[in-house]
Amino acid sequence: MARRKKIYEGKAKILYEGPEPGTIVQYFKDDATAFNAEKKDVIEGKGVLNNLLSEFFMNGLNQIGVPTHFIRRINMREQLVRNCEIIPLEIIVRNYAAGSLSKRLGIEEGTQLPRPIVEYCYKDDALGDPLVSEEHIAAFGWASQQDMDDVLSLALRVNDFLSGVMLAVGIRLVDFKIEIGRIYEGDFMRLIVADEISPDSCRLWDIETGQKLDKDVFRRDLGSLTDAYSEVARRLGVMPKTSQVTKPTLIN
Ligand code: TMP
Repeated sequence: MARRKKIYEGKAKILYEGPEPGTIVQYFKDDATAFNAEKKDVIEGKGVLNNLLSEFFMNGLNQIGVPTHFIRRINMREQLVRNCEIIPLEIIVRNYAAGSLSKRLGIEEGTQLPRPIVEYCYKDDALGDPLVSEEHIAAFGWASQQDMDDVLSLALRVNDFLSGVMLAVGIRLVDFKIEIGRIYEGDFMRLIVADEISPDSCRLWDIETGQKLDKDVFRRDLGSLTDAYSEVARRLGVMPKTSQVTKPTLIN
């Protein structure tokens, strides 16, 4: 049997060539990193949870007409997605102050923002994904003005969808990051939501208790990351069986 071709290995995922042209297999690793990989660990079961949660969010988006790269889940760690040309930006949407916004502007974490704030970071690990403005994006040709109009409208639609879905299960969507890619269909190009949507790339707080249910649990050493992600999966009804989260063990 031929070995499949690895296209790219990132911090949390591996991309393999897909079975048909224009497709990619996205494999979710158990690796967790923070602060541009200064902090690292392997969290058993994280990949399975993120695979299922990203499937859940991307499927929902597809269903309401927000195009995404998601085609179907293959198994507990892999999903089939459309290959796209990723715009080199991390698109962040914030509803409440937290993280780098709180630090940068001295706003207490948890303060509700007057309206959703969209920020762009240039995707470059060597530079630490610096915050950039639309001026930089246009001047350096990372995306056109038309792209950026579409990026903004996609980001706000994703925000409304995710905020509503999370609110329904008692979770506040504080902020999140998405990536967007281009696909070409004949003479036309359109933008789709790509990468992943999971507690790795969102801030999720329990509405009642304020408990953090996202990667800040790892970044800030607040307890078990799998417990936090499992709680999100449980509330959304996508919890895998325990045996599928942990690795199989040998029975003597
Ligand atoms: P920040 O407050 O650290 O800028 O993070 C904003 C949001 O973006 C938060 O939901 C976490 C997410 N994020 C990523 O997905 N990847 C990253 O590399 C960083 C720094 C943040």
